Amino acid sequence: MESLESRIQAIRILFDRVLKETTSESALEDVRLIFLSRKGHIASLMAELKAASIEQKKITGPALNALKQHIEQEYQNKLTWFNQRATEQEMARTYFFDVTAKKSRPYQGRLHAYTHITRELEDIFISMGFSIADGPELETDFYNFQALNIPLDHPARDMHDTFWVTYPHLLLRTHTSPVQIHVMEQQGAPLAVFSVGRTYRHEATDATHDFVFMQAEGIMVGKGISMANLLAIARAFLCHVFDKEDLAIRVRPGYFPFVEPGIEIDFSCPFCKNGCSRCKKSGWIELLGAGLIHPAVLRAVNIDPTQYTGFAFGMGIERLAMLKYGIDDCRLFHSAQLEFLHQF
Ligand code: DAH
Repeated sequence: MESLESRIQAIRILFDRVLKETTSESALEDVRLIFLSRKGHIASLMAELKAASIEQKKITGPALNALKQHIEQEYQNKLTWFNQRATEQEMARTYFFDVTAKKSRPYQGRLHAYTHITRELEDIFISMGFSIADGPELETDFYNFQALNIPLDHPARDMHDTFWVTYPHLLLRTHTSPVQIHVMEQQGAPLAVFSVGRTYRHEATDATHDFVFMQAEGIMVGKGISMANLLAIARAFLCHVFDKEDLAIRVRPGYFPFVEPGIEIDFSCPFCKNGCSRCKKSGWIELLGAGLIHPAVLRAVNIDPTQYTGFAFGMGIERLAMLKYGIDDCRLFHSAQLEFLHQF
């Protein structure tokens, strides 16, 4: 067996080499465990020395003590060095920074284009005596279809590619028209309500279709409410939104089961005189579906159609925002592209 002296020497050489190659504080902790812990080299040499003869102890005792001191000292020095280096690095990071350095400005939060246009529309309708309502996005078949005069076997359901929820009769609303039913049920006649909200259709997406989109819905019910009221309100709000006094509107027949007669309202292009890309060179822009509320819908919410009449209209918010702000792809609204969102 190797003599104790030569092992003391070998361990010293080993320690010096290992310490030299130690480059991190965690590695230094491993070195401490290997050499200085209770199961480390020094402890086992000490145990061997204890069992040695007195003469042997006289010779090797001082050598082993010297090794122990050497290792403890060098370990301590290196630990101090690591600590100092960490402090210096932290100081360099936190204290010595260049206060004159140019820094790019972080993006500031902005309101979404939806929020801008929703607020603007709500202001306009509030100024015309409407109140604002919200409705649930998870709807029942009754509110989304049946109460709107679209019974289970009605072919108009084909136009609403519906996201059904696994729970029976629940769906993601395909339009904001169910809000009409909620407010008429809750408030009865007379009333004038405007509502903006998210709607869903199971559709392939392209520049003008997304499967999540926003709609606005307006409804007015009272004694003697007629098509004239609808057209006056529609024209007033369009002039406001596009900041024009002289927008003309025109009416075409349109079919929606919850209105009779049903119409589509177009308005004269606010962006050109002789045709542009936004009006597809026609001078007219299509925006609103509308009509006089079908008596069956009034009856479904216990409003007497012989006493009261009303109008309703609906429109796509993306389409309106795209026209107003000159955007050509509706998918941008949900894209989370900061360059796009930052413009509003
Ligand atoms: N809900 C219809 C749709 O999503 C839009 C609409 C048309 C709403 C006519 C109305 C209306 O209130 O009277 O296509």
